[in-house]
Amino acid sequence: MNVSTLFKAIRNPLAALIVLRMLLTGQYYRFLFRLRRQRVLIGKNFRVRGPFDVQGPGLVIFGDDCTVIGSRLCPVTPFTHSASAVLVFGNRVVLNGTRFGCQQRIDVGEGSLLADARIMDTDFHDLAPQNRPRWSTTGTARPVSIGPNVWVCAGSMVLKGVSIGANSVVGAGTVVSRDVPADAVVAGNPGRIVKRLALRPPKRRTRAVCPAPTEHLTEVGGPS
Ligand SMILES: CC(C)(COP(=O)(O)OP(=O)(O)OC[C@H]1O[C@@H](n2cnc3c(N)ncnc32)[C@H](O)[C@@H]1OP(=O)(O)O)[C@@H](O)C(=O)NCCC(=O)NCCS
Repeated sequence: MNVSTLFKAIRNPLAALIVLRMLLTGQYYRFLFRLRRQRVLIGKNFRVRGPFDVQGPGLVIFGDDCTVIGSRLCPVTPFTHSASAVLVFGNRVVLNGTRFGCQQRIDVGEGSLLADARIMDTDFHDLAPQNRPRWSTTGTARPVSIGPNVWVCAGSMVLKGVSIGANSVVGAGTVVSRDVPADAVVAGNPGRIVKRLALRPPKRRTRAVCPAPTEHLTEVGGPS
């Protein structure tokens, strides 16, 4: 802990306690995934509040300083649906009740903020009824990429194959079925650009979309 963090904690002890509790819960989940031999890699300062449910045979990677906030109504659910599925969260990503369905790959860039939205890289089922068994996922799947500093607002959906550029905002209730450029605000169903963001230079340097998992992360379990 550095000196400025210590001063902040002294000035606001209640907030410090909440953060401490979230860090401890983060450690609990780290231990739980290890115990269950799940393929989850977690970086430094992982914070969790509320229900957090990771399921499936794929690989889930969290960078450093990620925060997960869930509630009973909106748990955070990074679910993978194949052993080759990879779900990557860059550093400083915040997930607030977000649900994921990952068959191939979903990348969430550094510093992005995702509310209680659904992000799916697969349709799960085929359009043709004869190829639509209830319990298997045979639908079209294409990777999803969410750039750095993107804000995905409440109740929205990001569908298969979509790429969202840096700093963009997906408005509440939007269905994103086509790519979104950087620095744009999209809204509606299907999502269309309603605004362009004129951005000042960032205060903090950000790395490229979804850095590779850092070296201090080692895989702890999963099918060998
Ligand atoms: C309906 C669906 C299966 C259609 O898939 P598809 O046939 O591959 O459709 P495409 O991606 O080719 O899109 C065709 C057009 O419809 C639009 N579109 C697709 N899905 C849309 C949706 N859910 N809402 C609004 N527009 C949609 C696309 O923007 C595209 O329009 P455009 O050509 O003008 O750009 C798919 O888009 C979808 O909604 N997937 C989610 C399935 C789901 O909810 N599964 C949960 C588990 S049961």
